[in-house]
Amino acid sequence: SPTLIDAGKPGTGGETHQTAGGKSPPLTTQQGVPVADDQNTLRAGPRGPALLEDFHFREKIFHFDHERIPERVVHARGFGAHGYFENYKPLADLTRADLFQRAGEQTPVFVRFSTVAGNKGSADLARDVRGFATKFYTKEGNWDLVGNNMPVFFIQDPMKFPDMVHAFKDEPDRGFPQAATAHDNAWDFISLTPEAMHMVMWVMSDRAIPRAFRFMEGFGVHTFRLVTAQGKSTYVKFHWKPKLGLQSVVWNEAVKINGADPDFHRRDLWDAIQTGDFPEWELGLQLFDDAFADQFEFDVLDPTKMIPEEQVPVQIVGKLVLNRTVDNFFAETEQVAFCTQNVVPGVDFTNDPLLQGRNFSYLDTQLKRLGGPNFTHIPINAPKCPVMNFQQDGHMAVRTPKGRVNYEPNSWADAPGPRESPTAGYQTFPEAINGPKQRVRSETFADHYSQARQFYVSQTALEQQHIANALTFELSKVQTLAIRVRMVSHLLNIDGELADKVAKGLRLKETPAAIPAAKPTRADLKPSPKLSILKN
Ligand code: HEM
Repeated sequence: SPTLIDAGKPGTGGETHQTAGGKSPPLTTQQGVPVADDQNTLRAGPRGPALLEDFHFREKIFHFDHERIPERVVHARGFGAHGYFENYKPLADLTRADLFQRAGEQTPVFVRFSTVAGNKGSADLARDVRGFATKFYTKEGNWDLVGNNMPVFFIQDPMKFPDMVHAFKDEPDRGFPQAATAHDNAWDFISLTPEAMHMVMWVMSDRAIPRAFRFMEGFGVHTFRLVTAQGKSTYVKFHWKPKLGLQSVVWNEAVKINGADPDFHRRDLWDAIQTGDFPEWELGLQLFDDAFADQFEFDVLDPTKMIPEEQVPVQIVGKLVLNRTVDNFFAETEQVAFCTQNVVPGVDFTNDPLLQGRNFSYLDTQLKRLGGPNFTHIPINAPKCPVMNFQQDGHMAVRTPKGRVNYEPNSWADAPGPRESPTAGYQTFPEAINGPKQRVRSETFADHYSQARQFYVSQTALEQQHIANALTFELSKVQTLAIRVRMVSHLLNIDGELADKVAKGLRLKETPAAIPAAKPTRADLKPSPKLSILKN
């Protein structure tokens, strides 16, 4: 237990004064002026009015008044930790990314886990997707793998993201529910969004109530590219596999844990790291080429679809170890800014429309959330490799150009400043693009039910029952009957028995007809034993 220091001396009104000395440095104002009295405002007489000239009081209160920054518009509640990524073997035949070149090399990382819908003060065990965002501080810049604990997403086009988030969060007139999908707006939106059905199966499964962050998988979701020094591109899906295996709680436990300890997940991670029980994950890659993409039953650019591991096995290439808690929650966990567009040479995007929308959204929101364009100067966001450019000024500028030169090209031979690196610099993969400008969803994105069914049938009987229970419970909170019925009409395209169970659970007078599917569903899909990926 910590050693306690002196209890101080009482002042004239009995208040506690502790003075500088020994291990206590002098308390100062933000201007560095030593403070004589931090307990009493300056007054005209002991019982008189406060004086405006009390610069110490005004500065202290002013700073307190400005302590809050906007919470993230999604993923507001999170918990982060430091660690490292260790590369198992050189991957130069796949990517020129520096962190993958040498076996055994460690790259520092910061990881933030989160729920999505709840606000910053919401409970950890909500039924929700979990964020799993990793910042790799590589020698060639920061690479952010901004993933979730489920391999697919609700929507195919970023245009729908604001609507989706509005529908999931608290309803605007009543300001609740704060952290649940169990309400009319959420299910109204989902039931009008057939592309969400696969993700809905995952969110209604045990995956949405993990036992702890340490027992979760992570997924980059989108198809990315790895690119070699010679310019060869391989498609990749990123996976994190927890060394402890996958574990969830059941809803009954989740409800009790939320009541007894809404900080359960963050406490678990803190305690594990503090006691030296460092959580580990392995990084896995699903790798494929254009030939596979062309013959795969679904479009690899569609983020509502995954690639079953039995079709493209996951290759383990390294491990992630979290071994250090933060020194300060605000400075690190709150101020960290992950962004899908933060890639390094050797990692590139594909034309997944959702990924392309995300590439715009994160930087934009962080400009507001972190108060200006210089949030990359904050230590948690700053790369651990040299950063040199001519970007300057703006609010809170810490890193500004030195000397005379703040532009290029320039003629100043003695101190020209940074210049381009044609070969070592980031090269975009030169994918050929051709096509009319139009607002059209590709027909290859139109099968919304087959993978939902594939996921459902891959679950054990008990897990299937949990999905039916979750759907029944959630939809029973929906007051508008038509929305309940519409959801059951979707379920009929996924699994008849599931639809029946939910219809009975909701006491619907009759089972409705199935919603017409845009594309014939793949009734012949066989159960896919490895689809649920990890079972414990
Ligand atoms: C956070 C937008 C889809 C994972 C955020 C934030 C925004 C956002 C604005 C808050 C960022 C901040 O304030 O720092 C979007 C948009 C999406 C989308 C527009 C789709 C069009 C996804 C998907 C995933 C994902 C598909 C998972 C693969 C995350 C994670 C965070 C996050 C993990 C939290 C990062 C952290 O811990 O700070 N997203 N998102 N998002 N998003 Fe997305």
